[in-house]
Amino acid sequence: MLIKKSKIAALLTAVAVAITGCGPFTGFSVYDVTSGDSGIETMSDDALISVGFSQLGSESTWRSANTESVKAALSTNNGFFLIYDNARQKQEKQFKAVRSFISQRVDYIVICPVIQEGWDVVLTEARDAGIPVILLDRNISVNDESMYTSFIGEDMYAEGASAGKWLEEHLEKQGKSEDDINIVVIEGTSGSSAQEGRARGFGAIAARNMNWKMIASAKGEFTQTKGKETMARLLREFDDIDVIVCQNDDMAFGAIEALNEAGVKTGGAGDPILISFDGTRKALELVKEGVINVDVECNPNSGELLAQIINGLEAGKEIKKTYYMEEKVFTKENVDEYIEDRNY
Ligand code: AHR
Repeated sequence: MLIKKSKIAALLTAVAVAITGCGPFTGFSVYDVTSGDSGIETMSDDALISVGFSQLGSESTWRSANTESVKAALSTNNGFFLIYDNARQKQEKQFKAVRSFISQRVDYIVICPVIQEGWDVVLTEARDAGIPVILLDRNISVNDESMYTSFIGEDMYAEGASAGKWLEEHLEKQGKSEDDINIVVIEGTSGSSAQEGRARGFGAIAARNMNWKMIASAKGEFTQTKGKETMARLLREFDDIDVIVCQNDDMAFGAIEALNEAGVKTGGAGDPILISFDGTRKALELVKEGVINVDVECNPNSGELLAQIINGLEAGKEIKKTYYMEEKVFTKENVDEYIEDRNY
């Protein structure tokens, strides 16, 4: 599927109009072609594959790394014309972006869906327009899976289960397998596959440990600010917390701030156990220091695989429905092996 000069010109007009805010195309709050190449001149190449990318927001360190990974992989030098839109956590904005991509007749639409439900109508529109949709990072819940071509992302259920299994083993090593364990969870965006999958995965392990008491599960929206606010509230409500599960690193950073302000340490013998997800560099440093006990990786570097899948589709290759990223579990015992290579 080669993009013709006339089509590039149409896209450039649309993008220019989007930037200036004049005319019918006002769907993009951000337009971004990867920096470091020759931009407009490169786009005169008539073999670029056009991709509309609806990113769900910029709430976390992880999200920024994911956006950068896509921009780097779908660069003009790699043969792509990328139209990037940041939905700022609003599904409505994602719908608007997708409709704008459809009206510009892009070759592919890539979506990081903020929440799981509600995609049927807009994806039907993309399918009717004959534009393949690739889901990235988070998954969706639709009646008909033919509405999207492929999902590339993380196995959130497995991540949650890994955290639960680590806790089981840790408590056993401490001789606490039979003790009552009070657990609080600071949740990511409600209704997102990341929040729901991690909760289900951890919950499955919790269900087989009758002594684990899930005493609270509160919203943290995947942000540091909200993580801090929620942790401060949980500390006011409970004085017997044994385990804090933060569903991402940014919320863990916020929780640590609140804990520090309350004079509560984590990670050491007799301290509350702190569990987090993502595996950002700052979090790995906190694992090394013993402040976070375990950090389950959520791999944001899906851009390269995304480019391979699109190139595969272009070449008429068979594409799988689901591609999971490889992910590790970081503890004090293994973190030194990975910390230096972490660039986000
Ligand atoms: O969907 C991935 C999750 O979303 C990451 O854990 C989190 O940091 C991000 O905001």
